[in-house]
Amino acid sequence: MKRLSFCLGLFIGICLFARTASQSDYDQPFRPQFHFSPRVHWTNDPNGLAFFDGEYHLFYQYNPFGDVWGHMSWGHAVSRDMLHWSELPVALPEQDGIMIFTGSTVVDEHNTSKFCKDNKPCMVAVYTGYTAAKGASKSLQTQNVAYSNDNGRTWTKYAGNPVLDLHMTDFRDPKVFWSEQGKHWVMAVSLPDDHKVRIYGSPDLKTWKTLSEFGPAGATGGQWECPELFPLPLEGKAGQQRWVMKVGLNPGGRAGGSGEQYFIGNFDGNAFKNGNPAAQTLWTDYGKDCYCALTFSGLPKNQTQVMIGWMSNWQYADKLPTSPWRGQMTLPRQLKLRETAEGIRLIQAPLKELQTLAKGHLKIDDVDDQSLNAALAKTDLTKGHTFELKTTVDVGSASDVGWKILSEDGTSYTLVGYDKQVGKLYFDRTHSGDVSFSKDFPVRLDAPLHLAGKLTMDIVVDRSSVEVFANNGTVTMTDLVFPAANANGLQFYSKGGKTGKLAADLTALKSAH
Ligand code: FRU
Repeated sequence: MKRLSFCLGLFIGICLFARTASQSDYDQPFRPQFHFSPRVHWTNDPNGLAFFDGEYHLFYQYNPFGDVWGHMSWGHAVSRDMLHWSELPVALPEQDGIMIFTGSTVVDEHNTSKFCKDNKPCMVAVYTGYTAAKGASKSLQTQNVAYSNDNGRTWTKYAGNPVLDLHMTDFRDPKVFWSEQGKHWVMAVSLPDDHKVRIYGSPDLKTWKTLSEFGPAGATGGQWECPELFPLPLEGKAGQQRWVMKVGLNPGGRAGGSGEQYFIGNFDGNAFKNGNPAAQTLWTDYGKDCYCALTFSGLPKNQTQVMIGWMSNWQYADKLPTSPWRGQMTLPRQLKLRETAEGIRLIQAPLKELQTLAKGHLKIDDVDDQSLNAALAKTDLTKGHTFELKTTVDVGSASDVGWKILSEDGTSYTLVGYDKQVGKLYFDRTHSGDVSFSKDFPVRLDAPLHLAGKLTMDIVVDRSSVEVFANNGTVTMTDLVFPAANANGLQFYSKGGKTGKLAADLTALKSAH
């Protein structure tokens, strides 16, 4: 990571030098090694994910001055593979008392905005501007645009901002995309307290008119935030797709605090029609720590859609025991839809390229639990807490099966298991290490999991996070943990009966720093 450092030396006067961030900048306790986290200070939602000119762009809610929420600006990082990120200077800073809240970017291929120069496409960011309450006036949220003609390195805020102002205190998080059906730009933006997503259309990203509204529907326990509307292909049904309307909810998430739900249906270029009953709630993630996830704009048509979320929860985000940074993103996740016995569901998998970080393997097939645990007891692949465990379990007559991970001395551990009697996947971090910083942190969570055949789990651990993709990606659980440095143990367990054959594929992963 490169950035310019200025220093005023006592004896050498003013010096200016380019500094390459070193691995030690990213080696504090709990610092993720292949998930994005800013070198220093606070982050929350990912913003403006876009692929442009061979680079993946990750913008993010960032406080350039501290490790709690404030002075919200768009931080910026770029990557060629979504695993190795280079942090760049702040892209959109707070200015004139207006903070830069969550939003999206698009690549304006045909210069509809007239912001692009030299007959080349440019990047346009659409974001919420937030002005705090002053005296008698309420706080204000409006939608704004900015553009960049140098691959996102520098940005100009549009002189005609705001482009949408309803004089509202809560009106935020615009996600924009080009609609082929409507032949216009579409913005999905939240009316948080009404539990509605307002859909606007525009020919040029500057003038917007209301097209439709979606909601209330599903879960409405808190404010609706970070809405997103995007198509996904239906697995095994060539050429078929459905539209996903994904909405953040805070509080009121399934696991407490911040959570995300999704609706599946169709979009005709103007309005989204939910294909399920309005009261049905589908959850994107059953853990506590995946919020305001966003998909990429500008991906090549044949590339699988990828989503990245903020790996935290507003219940305790500002109390996490990390320094000098606070906040990190989830793994990039590949998305598709699958027709299951319960209906069409969102399927998530870790980015395939994660395996390029492999630095050691242990593959065990067709064994019983004793031989499996004997092999795991000998490995040091879990040392360093950066690994991926892919497993297939024939649950047999057992009533409860699972993995004890990041364990030490039998007293400190995290459990990821399946309770057959209630048909639920569970995640227990009550004994996961440091849980003392918030009463909302030490929890046992669960998720309905309808098992047909063997139980599969893909578990990715990166020092302070555990992401579980179970039942071939139909159930995802994302949770932070803060284990002791020596909590390297990994064991399989089963209760109440005998399991059939087991398989485990354990890969130690290298740091991307
Ligand atoms: C969600 C959120 C957004 C808002 C941003 C402010 O986490 O509350 O609705 O734009 O964070 O940082």
